[in-house]
Amino acid sequence: MKTPRKKILLNGMMGSGKSTVGRLLKEVLGWRFVDTDAEIEKRAGKPISRIFAEEGEPAFRKLELKEARRLAGCFNCVVATGGGMFTQPEALQVLAENSLVVHLAARPETLARRLAAAEDRPLLENVQKRERLEEIYKKRQKIYESLPVQIDTENRSPEQVVQAILRRFFSGQEPELIFDRLGEVYSGLNSFEHLPVLIRKMTPVRKIAVLADDVLWPLVKKDFERLFEEEWERLPLVIPAGEGYKSPEQAESLWTQLKDFGADRYTPFIAIGGGVVGDLGGFVAATYMRGIPFIQIPTTLLGQVDSGLGGKTAINYQGVKNLIGSFYHAALTLLDPLFLLTLPKAEVQSGLSEMLKAGILAEPELVDFMEANASELQQGHLPALEWTVGRAARVKLQIVAEDPRERKGKRIFLNLGHTFAHAIESVSAYGIRHGEAVAIGLILAAKLGESLGKTEPGLSQKLQAILLRLGLPTEPPAGKTEEMLQVMQSDKKKKGKRIQFVIPVKIGEPRVVELEDLGIVRKILE
Ligand SMILES: NC(=O)c1ccc[n+]([C@@H]2O[C@H](COP(=O)([O-])OP(=O)(O)OC[C@H]3O[C@@H](n4cnc5c(N)ncnc54)[C@H](O)[C@@H]3O)[C@@H](O)[C@H]2O)c1
Repeated sequence: MKTPRKKILLNGMMGSGKSTVGRLLKEVLGWRFVDTDAEIEKRAGKPISRIFAEEGEPAFRKLELKEARRLAGCFNCVVATGGGMFTQPEALQVLAENSLVVHLAARPETLARRLAAAEDRPLLENVQKRERLEEIYKKRQKIYESLPVQIDTENRSPEQVVQAILRRFFSGQEPELIFDRLGEVYSGLNSFEHLPVLIRKMTPVRKIAVLADDVLWPLVKKDFERLFEEEWERLPLVIPAGEGYKSPEQAESLWTQLKDFGADRYTPFIAIGGGVVGDLGGFVAATYMRGIPFIQIPTTLLGQVDSGLGGKTAINYQGVKNLIGSFYHAALTLLDPLFLLTLPKAEVQSGLSEMLKAGILAEPELVDFMEANASELQQGHLPALEWTVGRAARVKLQIVAEDPRERKGKRIFLNLGHTFAHAIESVSAYGIRHGEAVAIGLILAAKLGESLGKTEPGLSQKLQAILLRLGLPTEPPAGKTEEMLQVMQSDKKKKGKRIQFVIPVKIGEPRVVELEDLGIVRKILE
């Protein structure tokens, strides 16, 4: 990770979330987490409340200063400092070097609410919590307000707070241009910050339209406002979340809003979100005035390594998924794993299978990395995600660039595991996530190849072991074999009577096989 800073210091009132946020930062950065209060208690062999009662506050502050000196050289550390630690300027001075110093801000009434159940806060005993908090806050206010990074924790989940801190931490970090043959694709932690600069390179127009759904928009709105400020005229287009809104009615409503906004051929159209927003946004951008500059910012892992790349846009029509659409490649795509912080863990996990698929198709190194760092990836370790997202995305983009409109056949390799996955999704009435179905599909594809004598023996076992370590399912639904075979028979990628399967011959070498008789597939499923 490119950063001159070696630690993050969290300061703030009791109840501001220092420990929760600190632990989360530790998890996603893979750093050490130190809570100075806990360290002091450990060394003193008694709780802080007893240190206060038996030795008084000045003695405690001395211990804090000692702790600050001890932690000054801590490398790759998140330090949650006692709320009053920086009332001693020396403690701040000692700790602040090479650190991002953060104040976690919250109103006293919020702090009081969060602390309602706390019994281990000596400064809060025997008085009305809120009044006492206000009193303490007033004493420390100047110090808190002087800290370089102010993060408002009001109405924000710990994940959102961590995201805001890391946007500051990675501020100025250059994103990597990972592909530029079908539009520019940048990857990197906080690459989102570079959006205005990259748009300025594209167009002189200071008008932008932004499409998001009503789940994601509240999470990113502030960042958009901060990035674009007054200089830009913005049209936020917020649609309800869900597949049902990938519809002609929604597309029409967006065309109308763009027209009323005065969008012209140079107005960038940004789609930020999951696959629904990406598909619908791409379709609207492709069709409005015969195509306006389209910018994709996928915010799910699946989106960053698959659905947000490759130029397929679509809406559903008369109950048929993706019936109307076009190929329209985004002029600019930003892959920023910091968005994944607010995504439910199960969704991140589910996206790992598409990433592994990319590795199996063309990047043995990616497969090795995922195998070696499975638990980090599962926990949402950001440096690991940053590396793997970039690698997996490049695999897809390279395949797409050789077959941009799915004509020459190369693109079919992206369906590795998907003939099985679609059947699994269908028989589970879409109760299983797409990525989970792909995980099972990858193993079945390798098993099919092994049974046909075309795949390196043992590959399915190897993949199964990796997917298990990634926490993904590896077995097809029990008792559904015939149903799954029926779904495969109606696969839209069928050629005459033959059904196409992509199998891995070995890692880095996919192949298409066509089967008319599914007897061998039945055996694998059973
Ligand atoms: N174009 C392609 O190549 C392609 C490929 C695969 C799938 N798709 C399409 O993708 C769609 C499915 O996409 P999906 O699974 O991403 O669903 P989705 O777009 O409905 O997103 C799922 C939910 O996650 C929320 N979300 C997204 N990012 C978030 C974040 N960072 N934090 C918190 N919440 C977040 C969204 O707001 C949404 O409510 C389908 O319509 C499918 O057809 C397209």
